Amino acid sequence: MSGEQALPAFKFLPHEPSLWQLVRQGVGDVGSCIPERILNDFAVQFPGPGSPLVLSHPDLAREVLNDRLGQFERDRFIRRLFRRSWGQGLAGAEGAAWERQRKAAAPFFTPPSVKRQLQAFARETDAVAGRLPEDAETELNSLALRIVARIVFAVLVEARGQIDPDAVASDVPGYIARVVDFSPIDLLPLSERLLDWLNGVDRDPQVSRVRAAAGRLAASRADGASRSDMITLLEGIGPVRDNIGGLIPAALDTTVHGLSWALNTLAVRPEWQARLAEEAQAAGPSPALEQLLLARRVVQEVLRLYAPAPLLARSAKFDQVLAGHKVRRGQTVIVALYAMHRHRQLWVDPDRFDPDRFLPERGVNPAWMPFGTGPRMCIAAQFAQAEMAVMLARLLAQFSLHPTSHQPELALRTATRSRNGLVVRMRRR
Ligand code: HEM
Repeated sequence: MSGEQALPAFKFLPHEPSLWQLVRQGVGDVGSCIPERILNDFAVQFPGPGSPLVLSHPDLAREVLNDRLGQFERDRFIRRLFRRSWGQGLAGAEGAAWERQRKAAAPFFTPPSVKRQLQAFARETDAVAGRLPEDAETELNSLALRIVARIVFAVLVEARGQIDPDAVASDVPGYIARVVDFSPIDLLPLSERLLDWLNGVDRDPQVSRVRAAAGRLAASRADGASRSDMITLLEGIGPVRDNIGGLIPAALDTTVHGLSWALNTLAVRPEWQARLAEEAQAAGPSPALEQLLLARRVVQEVLRLYAPAPLLARSAKFDQVLAGHKVRRGQTVIVALYAMHRHRQLWVDPDRFDPDRFLPERGVNPAWMPFGTGPRMCIAAQFAQAEMAVMLARLLAQFSLHPTSHQPELALRTATRSRNGLVVRMRRR
């Protein structure tokens, strides 16, 4: 039966890696250093003094991300990554500056506020879907980028014609690769400015165009017009331009990959597509969340299988013991959400696509943590799930998906991505 087809999965290192293997593997793809036993054990210590400790149990994740807050801080690589994209905006700031911005933005992400955005999610999806060919092989990351960029620049920051979302979308992959993805150069003990220069951040035309778009949007807000977007809540509290620029990795890269994996997974599962299409067509062009029960379960399952933020990193502020391992001051601890979500001891049949594991009567599995946990947990967890469910429903209402010979290769970067894209055939119903 097609529903039993194996899902693409990340190829962990199969054995106890040597330091040399780690370095070789890690160049260009840090996640590929993690050995497969992280799917059976809950804590794996890399060889070498002070090397990272990798965790895959939800209790350990909570300890690092929530319970031992005074003992762990965001890792210096993560802080650098956030600084490049968020500057001093919400996700880049620490301490009181972060707290003020987090509190100010929170009302935008409450369930009633998310409910007000549903129509825009559907409208922007339909605007892209309406221009797709009748029957064609489609690269899903590009498609999802076009839809999500329109949503970001309609809902989170009202662009009002100041920028072209399609143009920004086409620059995003280059921007992410240069600004957001971890590069081996970042390991060098050099100043931030020099690292940016060596990484070519400021010389890249795609980075310049995305930054210029954020600048134009920030400047356009001086027109005094009233807006009801997320950025309005942060005006006067955090830097506007930084908060607009930061939405590119936070709101685009995550949701885009989530939607792409969902469509790719469904392409080989016609029976799930049929059920989703039926639900979506019954809900009509402007669905309410209560009408998308199946789509929401599919979204939860896809976020489990392809955690858009696969690895969360913190570093120890003091020497301490964690999961029976000595952790030294400054040592990196990685919460491997991807591994936690496919852990052999935490899930029944972990590599199988089964949205019904999220039926309310089955209870909540604490090992489902795609949005992290603790005070720096994703502020937009409800927003992102609703957005993904509506995008999925509107696409499935209008298109059937069919597999191609394309074989994705999973990479755990800042997002769980396919190195060679995701291609399916989309046929208008
Ligand atoms: C499926 C989509 C998404 C996933 C899986 C996701 C996941 C995450 C995770 C795991 C974190 C915590 C990082 C850490 O602890 O180191 C985070 C933080 C954050 N996310 Fe999301 N995210 C998604 C979509 C979004 C969207 C649509 C927005 C829109 C504004 C957003 C805004 C943020 C912000 C601002 C933070 C930083 C919060 C803080 O530092 O207080 N995310 N996200």
